Amino acid sequence: MSHRVARRGHNVEPGPAAVLVVSGPNLQLLGTREPAIYGAETLAGIHARLAARARELGLSIDARQTNHEGTIVDWIGEARGRFAGILVNAGAYSHSSIAIRDAILAVALPAIEVHLSNPDAREPFRRKAILAPVCRGRVMGFGGDSYVLALEGLARILR
Ligand code: DQA
Repeated sequence: MSHRVARRGHNVEPGPAAVLVVSGPNLQLLGTREPAIYGAETLAGIHARLAARARELGLSIDARQTNHEGTIVDWIGEARGRFAGILVNAGAYSHSSIAIRDAILAVALPAIEVHLSNPDAREPFRRKAILAPVCRGRVMGFGGDSYVLALEGLARILR
């Protein structure tokens, strides 16, 4: 799933600074997936709210979802020179993926880790935070608002 809202291309006037927004496995199911934990908002709804807030902040977003770890690694690896920063909700890979952690380190862009739920308040295996040490910040526990709050925080870093 990809909601490309606006993005700088080659040989065009530079547009607003672009933010890559990556959502990982099972997040395409938001809206019906365990709504008591993740809320009723769909990922498309979150992306639309994010795009609106990005415009207000003078940013643009390129918001994508995949269930595949390697695709997340590819997208982050291609981000340098195209994006000013990254929001990443890697889903369950947040607790396991050294490859995604290494990709964030490799591109050296400010990345904010996002979670709808608060993983620290859930099962013990979700307390393992593999990406957190290489991210500039973490926003979790606010449902879809976590993405918007993370964008606001990233905008402050980019200012
Ligand atoms: C999640 C939290 C993860 O532990 C879980 O595996 C997810 C969603 C969140 O946004 O709350 O898939 O990243």
